[in-house]
Amino acid sequence: MNRIKRIAVFTSGGDAPGMNAAVRAVVRTALNYNLEVYGINRGYMGMISGEFIKLTSKSVRGIIHRGGTILRTARSEEFRTKEGRKKANDNLVKYKIDAVVVIGGDGSFMGAGIFSQEYNIPFVGIPGTIDNDMFGTDYTIGFDTALNTVTEAIDKIKDTALSHDRTFFIEVMGRDAGFIALKAGIATGAEMVLIPEISGQEEKLKQVLSNPEKKSNIIIVAEGNKMGGAEEVAKKYGKKYKTRGVRVNVLGHMQRGGSPTAFDRYLASRMGVEAVDALMDNLRSIMIGYENHKVVHISFNKTNKNKRGIGEELLRVNEILAK
Ligand code: F6P
Repeated sequence: MNRIKRIAVFTSGGDAPGMNAAVRAVVRTALNYNLEVYGINRGYMGMISGEFIKLTSKSVRGIIHRGGTILRTARSEEFRTKEGRKKANDNLVKYKIDAVVVIGGDGSFMGAGIFSQEYNIPFVGIPGTIDNDMFGTDYTIGFDTALNTVTEAIDKIKDTALSHDRTFFIEVMGRDAGFIALKAGIATGAEMVLIPEISGQEEKLKQVLSNPEKKSNIIIVAEGNKMGGAEEVAKKYGKKYKTRGVRVNVLGHMQRGGSPTAFDRYLASRMGVEAVDALMDNLRSIMIGYENHKVVHISFNKTNKNKRGIGEELLRVNEILAK
């Protein structure tokens, strides 16, 4: 028998398009089980300061197509401390919360893993981050939308690059991961991608910049790339390769906003339903993943200990095509 009567849901870390669809799915599935649902505003911060609100089916009406997160989000330093986590638990007890769904990235699951062990409260995680860097899932919520946003922006930049024979260094998000850069590189036919997972790309970059056959270039730079961000790389190479008309575009936080794609809405909806199903099956400390078109469960232990690799196959495809 399951003794869960009331659950809480919150979003945490960087926002990602599709988080609202996930919140909606969690709320409606919980109501379908006749559970009560509370939303916690501003992630772990709100858990500590007691920002709990009761959610109904109506609370999540008309949000499936909206970017950002209606529950808002934050990164909490205080939750890293024992005192902070004690305050958070006091509030969960005060609001009689029996189980929690956290929607966020690896930092959020790390916190959830520690907290649920300390206070013996079931947590299930839904991966929501545009970076797509979570171990145990082919896709995180928000990645597909961000990738489409980046692709659209680069297509536009490419028009002007071709017209003027210029080289553009375009910086995309990815502090530790190059998934957005690499997939956008394949999708836009970029000449080169610079990503954190690969080192020693200087020689190749010089070759690209001195290729007489190609007067315009798109070079995508993931922000966490080892040679620095787009500004830094352009500064270093722009003078030497003056004739290439080097320009820089930092796409920034626009990559995190916007209406989620159909895929992100679908993914978020499936994961949201599965998260509550898992809690009702007495599962805990797991992330809901999506592998080979199937919803799967992975323990926080695994997601927190492992890093998702970029994949040799993708690198090869890019290598062959980026000529
Ligand atoms: O959402 C993940 C991410 O986009 C990283 O790629 C990036 O480094 C980070 O968020 C920046 O987020 P913020 O400006 O909110 O600190």
